Amino acid sequence: MTPSTKHVTGSMHNFTAVRALVADTMHAVNTLIRERLSSDVVLINQITEHIINAGGKQLRPMLHVLASGAAGYVGQKHIKLAAVLEFIHTSTLLHDDVVDESNLRRGRSTANALWGNSASLLAGDFLYSRSFQLMVELDDMHIMRILADTTNTIAEGEVLQLLHIGHTDVDEAAYLAVIERKTAMLFATAAELGGFLGGLAPDQVAALRQFGMELGYAFQIVDDLLDYSGDENTLGKRLGADLAEGKPTLPLIYALQEADATLAKSLQQVIEHGTADDLGSVVAAITDTGALERTRQCAKTHAAKARAALDTLAPSIWLDALAMLTDYSVRRIT
Ligand code: IPE
Ligand code: IPE
Ligand code: MG
Ligand code: MG
Repeated sequence: MTPSTKHVTGSMHNFTAVRALVADTMHAVNTLIRERLSSDVVLINQITEHIINAGGKQLRPMLHVLASGAAGYVGQKHIKLAAVLEFIHTSTLLHDDVVDESNLRRGRSTANALWGNSASLLAGDFLYSRSFQLMVELDDMHIMRILADTTNTIAEGEVLQLLHIGHTDVDEAAYLAVIERKTAMLFATAAELGGFLGGLAPDQVAALRQFGMELGYAFQIVDDLLDYSGDENTLGKRLGADLAEGKPTLPLIYALQEADATLAKSLQQVIEHGTADDLGSVVAAITDTGALERTRQCAKTHAAKARAALDTLAPSIWLDALAMLTDYSVRRIT
């Protein structure tokens, strides 16, 4: 697929320019996030502030704000929805780090490493339910239905992924089914709700949803690639975490497809036993079999599809910024 360049005017040439475009709105979003984090229960404040203050990239709220702009929305609801999206995302991270037994997130020790699994899960529940308190204030059944469906689907994705742990027969389709649910759905919803707020026609709302979905695929595929090839300081997460857990992500799936019998056997053993000790040899295997490059190409294909989905929407600086996000999502790997 040839990437569409229709909307690149050059005004949004990097992620910093995109951030600047949404800076004022994101300031309002972060003020609201801070206001609504508070609880009388001290431990909840400690945990939620620990993870929120560590500073995530805030891609989902940014995506929502940009999509609202592209849809011509004028109002304040996008601020609340952006906060809702970040609360949902952050709650899934608190849960995910327990499931994945991670000890580093956003460059800090994880909440589970500091306060234990139970406290982490419950603080995740707090954020998750707080997001529903916020969204109810919008008093819009359509928005609530989409977000309820999305959060339910994310939970399905995480459980489906759990079932894949230690299994060597997970293929690309099964992998994509997981990342669609656990990651791409929330991106799709962030973009769709922007189109909805702006009152776009159904086909244009669908195009924004498609954009978010493909961007989400690209983003998670890159995350899974970076787990093998990234830089721990930049990512703020441990490398080799997926391998340590026996999680068969796309680089491993591709490597298994290309490996000779001996290599396949050793890769299968690594997946079954889940240990980071073999990271060096697995990185060599996924590089030598071309799996790393193939994974990179797969991410780029989804990013190109995302960009193409923008073609039916009216040109604007917001659309340029959305297009820039597709570059950003894959630039992390080039
Ligand atoms: C991490 O998401 C989980 C994935 C879907 C890969 P982000 O990389 O957006 O995490 P933060 O919010 O920036 O820390
Ligand atoms: C993303 O998957 C988890 C969610 C979407 C909840 P990962 O497990 O790959 O995310 P990281 O690498 O821990 O951020
Ligand atoms: Mg994880
Ligand atoms: Mg990951």
